[in-house]
Amino acid sequence: MYKILVEGGHPLNGKVRINGAKNSAVALIPAAILADSSVTIEGLPNISDVVTLGGLLEEIGGEISWEESEPPLGNTIHIDPSSMVSMPLPNGKVKKLRASYYFMGAMLGKFNKAVIGLPGGCFLGPRPIDQHIKGFEALGAEVTNEQGAIYLQAKELRGARIYLDVVSVGATINIMLAAVKAKGKTIIENAAKEPEIIDVATLLTNMGAKIKGVGTDVIRIEGVSSLNGCKHTIIPDRIEAGTYAIAAAAQGQEVVIDNVIPQHLESLLAKLREMGVTIEVSDEQLLIMSKSPIKSVDIKTLVYPGFPTDLQQPFTTLLTKAQGTGIITDTIYSARLKHIDELRRMGAAIKVQGGSAIINGPVQLEGARVKASDLRAGAALIIAGLMADGVSEITGVEHIERGYEKITDKLISLGANVWRERMSGEEIEQIKNA
Ligand code: EPU
Repeated sequence: MYKILVEGGHPLNGKVRINGAKNSAVALIPAAILADSSVTIEGLPNISDVVTLGGLLEEIGGEISWEESEPPLGNTIHIDPSSMVSMPLPNGKVKKLRASYYFMGAMLGKFNKAVIGLPGGCFLGPRPIDQHIKGFEALGAEVTNEQGAIYLQAKELRGARIYLDVVSVGATINIMLAAVKAKGKTIIENAAKEPEIIDVATLLTNMGAKIKGVGTDVIRIEGVSSLNGCKHTIIPDRIEAGTYAIAAAAQGQEVVIDNVIPQHLESLLAKLREMGVTIEVSDEQLLIMSKSPIKSVDIKTLVYPGFPTDLQQPFTTLLTKAQGTGIITDTIYSARLKHIDELRRMGAAIKVQGGSAIINGPVQLEGARVKASDLRAGAALIIAGLMADGVSEITGVEHIERGYEKITDKLISLGANVWRERMSGEEIEQIKNA
């Protein structure tokens, strides 16, 4: 086990390249099994969630080969699903990440049945999957939950009209995966509109699926009897890009963020501009020029195109150096607040009141020993470390590695003093007992 150490106070300058989107990658890999021949996905991030999903795919007979290619394409995976079988995917790897639930929709779509352990992932408060199940049932599947595993079975999947009671990224994608080969027409109403959903629909369309309306809140799918292999290039990770944009606003002078789709980050860029950060936008790059002081703003997280919940935690860190009071309310995951105690350990003045975090600034953070409880909390703490006086030690690195490829190398290339150290047996024990 490793920890990340950050010596704060070094300004960030230079260019950082963004990888393919994690939250696309984790759906594209299960989606590929719906094809009858090989699917190639280019530009995958080299993160542990992708590796875990590759392992799950192999457990059910998928053949995969990896190819490391140069940017802009990055890691390429070839997935040959032609000898796959419908095997149960029990706990174990399934528990390691949330997105293992995409095998429910994909296996149901391919085999009309699936057995899969309940998914794990970051603890952000309750994360029900009732809308996924509502969708599968509407398509004709019988769904039961026995001893921590979900059993899905259908004689035949038939298109249906499905209204999502909650706008859900996962349910929208999972229902699409099950519906593309169902007989007849499926209509998903109140669908989520995140760019990752469009990316998955693009892959499915290249495979021969008939999907209309992605990116709006009504998606129409006309089922087809078979899907073929194809090649797909993943979109850039808007959350990784946003994380570096926030780091640049917090501790940067001039930072270029390369390989982005700026339109995917409009809500963040608007808020950074309100704070007084100068941003130049070109086709695939952002130039972030921070200056002190910056002003506080309020943030309310919303479904896309609103402010993303996944950037709420890093943004909290930025607000500690802003002048005035900023209020953050996460309407998607109201309990996504575990980073706050750790930021307080570093000297932040944050109160939690009625589900909102109230941040008073500016405060000079001090280096401390802190623990990342989840992926984006980890990003928030690394940014805090960059801003702090002295050295911070961040544990819980396994969460960070689920979603950020080479985060220490990328920050070093921008001028940060950050490094990884192996933890001693005693430190590991302390963490286990904490
Ligand atoms: N919800 C339900 N019932 C459902 C599904 C969702 O009530 O059946 C609720 C959730 O509890 C939450 C809201 O609906 O309050 C939105 O959840 P959603 O289903 O959209 O989230 P998700 O698909 O489980 C994905 C990302 C998350 C990101 C959210 C919101 C993946 C693998 N995960 O999760 O990413 O926070 O959408 O945008 O795509 C991360 O990258 O750090 C991360 C947690």
